[in-house]
Amino acid sequence: MKTLLMNIDSLVTVSADGSLSKTGPSMRDVGELTNAAMLFDERILWIGPSSEAKLHVSAEVEVVDCSGKTVMPGFVDSHTHMVFAGSRSGEFARRLAGASYAEIAAEGGGILTTMRAVREADVESLVDVGDALLTSALQHGTTTAEIKSGYGLDVESELRLLDAIGQLQFGHEARVVGTFLGAHAVPPEYKHDPEAYVNLVINEMLPRVREQGTASFCDVFVDAGFFTEAQGERILNAAREHGLRLKIHADEIALVGASTMAARVGCISADHLEHSTIEEIKALRDAGVVCTLLPGTAYTLRLPYPDARTMIDEGAVVALATDCNPGSCFTENMQTILSLSCINMGMSIEEAIVASTLHGAAALGLANDLGSLEVGKFADVVVYDVPSYKEIVYHFSVNHVWGVWVGGVEVS
Ligand code: NIG
Ligand code: FE
Repeated sequence: MKTLLMNIDSLVTVSADGSLSKTGPSMRDVGELTNAAMLFDERILWIGPSSEAKLHVSAEVEVVDCSGKTVMPGFVDSHTHMVFAGSRSGEFARRLAGASYAEIAAEGGGILTTMRAVREADVESLVDVGDALLTSALQHGTTTAEIKSGYGLDVESELRLLDAIGQLQFGHEARVVGTFLGAHAVPPEYKHDPEAYVNLVINEMLPRVREQGTASFCDVFVDAGFFTEAQGERILNAAREHGLRLKIHADEIALVGASTMAARVGCISADHLEHSTIEEIKALRDAGVVCTLLPGTAYTLRLPYPDARTMIDEGAVVALATDCNPGSCFTENMQTILSLSCINMGMSIEEAIVASTLHGAAALGLANDLGSLEVGKFADVVVYDVPSYKEIVYHFSVNHVWGVWVGGVEVS
């Protein structure tokens, strides 16, 4: 069955004319068409003025009237930790009372609190947590989500997380991309010998992760109190040998050389970048590394916001993602992330849309197929019940989604 969306007030194509990103001033152009129409099956077949849409009406076409509506590509949330167990609301309350994320982590809380819950959890309960968050994300306009492991921190628990992510990949209506994040924290049993844990990640986890098959990416958390630049580099180089593409959590808590290492080893994206300076930004730009910004984390942890303005003005490829996780940012709502990026990082509405669609796809190596509404790309389409895309950021903290299609199939 084909679908024809007609009488669309605002059709935001995010067209990049065949390119996989829009940098500098071109990021301010979202390719908006007014009074437009779009025909699709699994992929987009035609886009044009509503006046020509009648030519495409037939018995095999479901027609949807989009008067007063905005149509955009689905969000590509390229950085989440949506599969976990337990809650950290107690630690959240402690942080509100003054404790820092780093202090709680150093006491054996934080990521390790979630690790203890995950080690106790069976795969079904992990799938249930991920399924609920992913469904909610989809209802808020996210059609593709990356999900990381990283709360198991032993061979079997990391594989169980990847198994849960794999079940969502095959069973959920949203698209799911898997990432192995064995180097998320040093587990307590290796507290006095972090190098031995790095060896475990390289020699025992990576071969099993490859065999298991869910993960396309390997990520590492290189930061003060977590992994060093040298440890991260060793893991990423080994991951590449196993056919995984590379990502990094960089410059979140402190500057410890993570971004420059990411540029050197050829990460597809460097994520966080709250503390990055012009030097890191230029290194990432020159190496073609996507700068993935997570303003929900800066908001929750009261960190300085990443310098999105300099990144965009210097021509880096900037993406936006939720970082959805139980510790540093518990939201799956990309509409909120757009608001935070505009209000607190000086991004324009148009830049935020490009960053959360096309550049999210670029951060996952999927911009050929996803992230914009162009003939030939997958029909991952979200209809919002507002007459202009500007309303989505302007009228904030409510869900404007009216309908969602993934690969041409209506899912919400
Ligand atoms: O991206 N920085 C490391 N990892 C997550 C936090 C995970 C957690 O606190 O559970 C992040 O912020
Ligand atoms: Fe993260």
